[in-house]
Amino acid sequence: MPNIHLENLIKRYGDVEVLHGIELEMADNEFTVLVGPSGCGKSTTLRMIAGLEDVSEGEIYIGGKPVSRLEPKDRDLAMVFQDYALYPHMNVARNMSFALRLQKRPQAEIDKKVKEVAATLGLTDYLARKPGELSGGQRQRVAMGRALTRDAATFLFDEPLSNLDAKLRGQMRAELALMSQRVQKNMIYVTHDQIEAMTLADRIVVMHGGYIQQQGTPEELFKRPVNKFVAGFLGMPPMNFLEGEIFERDTGVFVSGDGFDLRLAADKAAAAKAHQNKEVILGVRPSDLTFDADASKQEALTLDVMVSEYVGAQSVLLCRCGPAKVMVEVNSETPVALGQTLTFAVNPNGVHLFDRHNEVAI
Ligand SMILES: Nc1ncnc2c1ncn2[C@@H]1O[C@H](COP(=O)(O)OP(=O)(O)OP(=O)(O)O)[C@@H](O)[C@H]1O
Ligand SMILES: [Mg+2]
Repeated sequence: MPNIHLENLIKRYGDVEVLHGIELEMADNEFTVLVGPSGCGKSTTLRMIAGLEDVSEGEIYIGGKPVSRLEPKDRDLAMVFQDYALYPHMNVARNMSFALRLQKRPQAEIDKKVKEVAATLGLTDYLARKPGELSGGQRQRVAMGRALTRDAATFLFDEPLSNLDAKLRGQMRAELALMSQRVQKNMIYVTHDQIEAMTLADRIVVMHGGYIQQQGTPEELFKRPVNKFVAGFLGMPPMNFLEGEIFERDTGVFVSGDGFDLRLAADKAAAAKAHQNKEVILGVRPSDLTFDADASKQEALTLDVMVSEYVGAQSVLLCRCGPAKVMVEVNSETPVALGQTLTFAVNPNGVHLFDRHNEVAI
């Protein structure tokens, strides 16, 4: 399977530059997820790879060959669009086999492929129906099936699950993960849903404002975000941010702000020292905060509970720490009263620091 390389890709619509030099290397058989907020340039990047948008500057290489001048059909790709359209007069089976029939493949092969893909997508009972007789989620699965029946080297997906309800989305996510292990092809998948990105990707590419912010494995991005944007984008509930400053004292290096005074672990302290007396942002994920009434002040946050949301086994507490809002999770059996002050121990390895001016990780 060929690898794909985007080299300094720039896209302009008239005078407006919307992609500012995308540099990306995708290895063979890799599941790459482009994730970012609406308007950051995900679809544009994907459509340029597919050949549906011109490249303003830069080059796209597939298997080492420049392809930006090639027609979409010569790039050996199959794409599922964000706003897909099915052929309304064809039933599900014929929609799914469209490309294969165009290639005049033997009927037995077509039937086998359609059957296989329909089973994966839970569409076996719907093969004879027309798109008008399907729910939105079923139609979306047919659109996906139409691409999957094809024998392309690379599959491009643009928000293929966006019309599905939460439960079906979860199921389809698992199916997709299974399928990608089975078919061993290049997959490039666009979503604004960070959970989809985290669960599906071999490699996540976080985009924002037409720039790549960071790329790496889900674990790398989760544990070592390069800036505040990536830190806040991945993870649910999201990372908490508190404004503070770095101070060195006899007893260690501290990050202190309104309502907290935390001593940093040795490795963090070494990096933070260079930012002494400078303004920083402390980032801590809810999963790195543990309710602990006995934690000492310099290893904990003291929080005033404002809102408690029961979500089953856990309750999410929205709290205040000085001027900052902080979210934490507790076992829902823990008795908590609104207005109560609670102490949460901070996992020393879960402390993130960002320069307050450029928001880059320290
Ligand atoms: N045909 C066009 N002409 C002018 N600007 C465009 C055109 N298509 C897209 N844009 C702009 O390019 C930027 C990136 O758009 P794109 O569709 O790639 O975003 P996206 O990340 O896919 O967002 P979403 O999650 O909403 O689908 C946006 O600011 C958008 O307004
Ligand atoms: Mg889009």
